[in-house]
Amino acid sequence: MNNFAAHARQLRQGFAHDPHRPRYHFLPPANWMNDPNGIIEWRGLTHLFYQHNPHGPVWDDMHWGHAASADLVHWADLPIALAPDPGGPDEDGCWSGCAVGNDGAPTLLYTGIQGDYNLPQSQRVCIASSNDDLLRWRKHPGNPVIAQPPDNIDVTAFRDPFVWRESDNWYMIIGAGIRDVGGAVLLYRSRDLHRWEYLHPLCDNDMLGHTALWTGSVWEVPQFFPLGDKHIMTITAWDKEQLYSAYFVGSYHDHRFYPDSVYKLDYGDRHFCAPHSMRDSTGRRVLWGWIDEGRSIEAQTAAGWAGVMSLPRILTLGVDGKLALQPAPELESLRADHHRYNNILLSGASGEFTAGQRGAALEILAEFDAANAEECGVKVRCSPDGEEESTIFYDARRKQLGVDRRRSSIVRDGSAALDIQQGDFSLSPGESLRLRVFVDCTVIEVYANERACITSRVYPSRSDSAGVRLFSRGRAIVKSLDIWTMSAIWDAP
Ligand code: FRU
Repeated sequence: MNNFAAHARQLRQGFAHDPHRPRYHFLPPANWMNDPNGIIEWRGLTHLFYQHNPHGPVWDDMHWGHAASADLVHWADLPIALAPDPGGPDEDGCWSGCAVGNDGAPTLLYTGIQGDYNLPQSQRVCIASSNDDLLRWRKHPGNPVIAQPPDNIDVTAFRDPFVWRESDNWYMIIGAGIRDVGGAVLLYRSRDLHRWEYLHPLCDNDMLGHTALWTGSVWEVPQFFPLGDKHIMTITAWDKEQLYSAYFVGSYHDHRFYPDSVYKLDYGDRHFCAPHSMRDSTGRRVLWGWIDEGRSIEAQTAAGWAGVMSLPRILTLGVDGKLALQPAPELESLRADHHRYNNILLSGASGEFTAGQRGAALEILAEFDAANAEECGVKVRCSPDGEEESTIFYDARRKQLGVDRRRSSIVRDGSAALDIQQGDFSLSPGESLRLRVFVDCTVIEVYANERACITSRVYPSRSDSAGVRLFSRGRAIVKSLDIWTMSAIWDAP
């Protein structure tokens, strides 16, 4: 174990001079990470598992990496929890899944891959359990516990089990797609987590009714839980070329989920995928997502690492019937130097204010009276001459919240995404705009009025691209601006 920790530390130290590597977001010691998996509280620690390729910074040969935290902020690296077994039902990968406490016998349910991973027949459900505080995992000798998709449905995918307890039974949903229907989640039932009976789809695209949102051909990594007086299902809506995270709000009866509505969980699309949440011991619903890179495979290979975990988000049900999202208050422990500015007037065709505080790892909280502005927002990672800047904007006329990264980097060789990400957002009369922005080298996470989030990646090339500016088109008053320097969560990055 100590050897493992020392090795992980050494790997992290190897990246000490990489200006693109986040300092206060979780990421593995090295190499590739995608989905959060099996997040669970156990004896005072939160355990985070994650899709991991320990051999390189690209998606391949999936293992379950492992880390644990006492405060949701600082993480200790732990040995790999699951690795593919040659000749076993997961020999070609241990893909996503979940964890349950199972009355003191912690159990992982995951997707074992054997054969061509594109085929639903190669995707099956396996389980593993631990009797030493989640450190070592023993795979069940009878794996897979679900060997193939149900016979009577023509599925295009079959993966990512998620399990909950309901009276004397366990229920499991599996992410799927049904040919000519679209995304679906399939419902199973069991008494003992080993023998599973297929029931029916908990929900599928046909049950959605009319929605303006495209929801892809497969619903990956489904999770399902009560929140307030509703039920919520989160998924990644997936298709070959496109993916984003969605949530459905609806009601649950007769073991079917009837969604009233579906929304994007984050406007960053592929930069916030595979949402995974847990109910913690205080009853909070805490959610993480995988923040994918926004740069080429060549660039990430050269870096030696890829993939970042989002900061933990607390979910509640808003009065408008949509999710309300807040960063976990525990993150405030990272706040170091603080500057506060009050009543800044931005006026004219393009009003700007440059903050004195600079940095690549910051938290920014800006409250705008934007009633008379056409557009306003915050620019981060700005070079002094404005050659590089990443703009978080609220466009009142088009009712959009976005991140404009067309000037995020002066390197224009196609290695990094330089575009505009955006989604619907508007203020009600008299409501001020509250932007809470977490900047962590190449990661930007934005919360707008606790009801919309947008996650982005930017790769500025200049070492002096560390400035913060406020801007407006038309008159805006910034009632307050708080900027904190954020401490690193690793002693080596
Ligand atoms: C989601 C996903 C899952 C799958 C895993 C493989 O990002 O595609 O559906 O289990 O990643 O790494």
